[in-house]
Formats: sequence, C-alpha cells, structure tokens
Amino acid sequence: MIQFEQVCKRYPGGHQALNNLSFHMPHGDMRFLTGHSGAGKSTLLKLIMVMERANSGQVLVDGRNVSKLPARHIPELRRKVGVVFQNHQLLFDRSVFDNVALPLVIAGYGHRDIGRRVRAALDKVGLLDKERQNPITLSGGEQQRVGIARAVVNKPKLLLADEPTGNLDPQLSAEIMHLFEQFNQVGVTVLIATHDLSLIARMPYKLLSLRQGQLVSAGGSHE
Ligand SMILES: Nc1ncnc2c1ncn2[C@@H]1O[C@H](COP(=O)(O)OP(=O)(O)OP(=O)(O)O)[C@@H](O)[C@H]1O
Ligand SMILES: [Mg+2]
Repeated sequence: MIQFEQVCKRYPGGHQALNNLSFHMPHGDMRFLTGHSGAGKSTLLKLIMVMERANSGQVLVDGRNVSKLPARHIPELRRKVGVVFQNHQLLFDRSVFDNVALPLVIAGYGHRDIGRRVRAALDKVGLLDKERQNPITLSGGEQQRVGIARAVVNKPKLLLADEPTGNLDPQLSAEIMHLFEQFNQVGVTVLIATHDLSLIARMPYKLLSLRQGQLVSAGGSHE
C-alpha cells in the first residue's frame, strides 16, 4: 500500500528531513510512526499525501509512484487517503454535519448520498446526535472525533493521522486509538504518527521508528 524506496527529503535551507528511507507497508496493515521531535514523521506523511515532494527516491501509494505525480492527479490520490491532524482543522462557522460533508461536497456527491454517508460516519464515531451543533460547542475529544469522521467519510483505503491524540487525556486517547483499530479491522490501512509511547505500548502493532530522518526499526512491535 505504501512503499518508500531510498527517499531523501531536504527542505529549502538545507535541512535533511528524511535520509535514504526505505520501507514497505502492506495493504490492511496498521502501524505507528514514532521518533523524536524533528525526526521526520510529519514529513513522511506529507510525502504520502503529496503535500511535499521527495528530492530523490520513490514514494509508491497503492501501486502508484506519487513522487512525480502531476498536480492534476493529486485530487484523485487524496480521495483514497483520509487524514487526521492534531489540531483537527475544523471550520467553526459550520455545523458538525457540514464539516464532515466537506470532502463529499468537493468530490461532487449528490445531496442524498452526502446525508447518508455523513450520518454513517458520525454514527461510527458516536456523534450522530451532535450533527447540528457547531464544533466550538464540543469537547476536545468530540472535536477530534469530528475530524476522524471527516477523514473517513469518503471511505478511504488509507488513513493517516498526525498526533491525533496530542491534546487529549489518556482515556480519550485510548478511545481514539480504538476507533482507528475498528477502521483497520474493516480493511483500511492505518498509519499514525505519535509521541505517546505509553499509549501504544500495549498495542500489538508494528512500529516505524525514525531518528533524524532514518529508520531505526521497522520490524515487530516495540523492537
Ligand atoms: N517546511 C519546512 N521548511 C524547512 N524545514 C522543515 C519544514 N518542515 C519541517 N522541517 C524540518 O524537517 C525536520 C523534520 O520535521 P518534521 O515536521 O517531519 O518532524 P516530526 O518528526 O513531525 O516532529 P514533531 O514530532 O515535532 O512533529 C525538522 O528538523 C524540521 O525543522
Ligand atoms: Mg510532526
């Protein structure tokens, strides 16, 4: 599903964020991306989404080399990939429903289809009764779940999350991780960048650990 082959990413100014990185993550896997601040976690996720481009090497997503993907094909790629950000980037002047509907509106879905899919996504994250509210009236954990509903409303094959539990207490964090596990159990490939080692310590998933842009481990869990 995701394959990196000798990927180097240097930002303007000369900083080497990823250094000759190679790994393969099969379809249907769930993994955690760990490493110190500045290790390159967000950069790795951005290369998958083509929010940034590699300087050399190849990034394959669902069999397609995206490192040289023409800009006109980027929307098509992004429809396959759901993304959850730490600061969830919700629109506070729209309802919960409208926030979750946004990717479907952009993709040109019809009115009735949008209603059905948005309610299915809100149901999965346990927020069906909040669809008319403004996200500002929700708790941090609820807002994060709205962000997750928005990321999965399009039924993506791949779900990426960058520090999705960063601002949440341990119990809410565990609930959010459980949601990701449920998506993985129905076949979605899931890659989650996190600092929260205590949260993932008891979870049976493989780690991708980065140190200064290089892979430290890509083997079994917690090697
Ligand atoms: N847009 C940018 N321009 C220049 N340098 C950048 C840019 N984005 C990231 N970097 C640098 O690249 C390196 C990797 O950054 P990245 O954001 O991928 O790290 P991270 O592992 O996500 O860190 P954190 O845990 O703090 O989120 C850092 O040294 C950072 O300063
Ligand atoms: Mg980051």
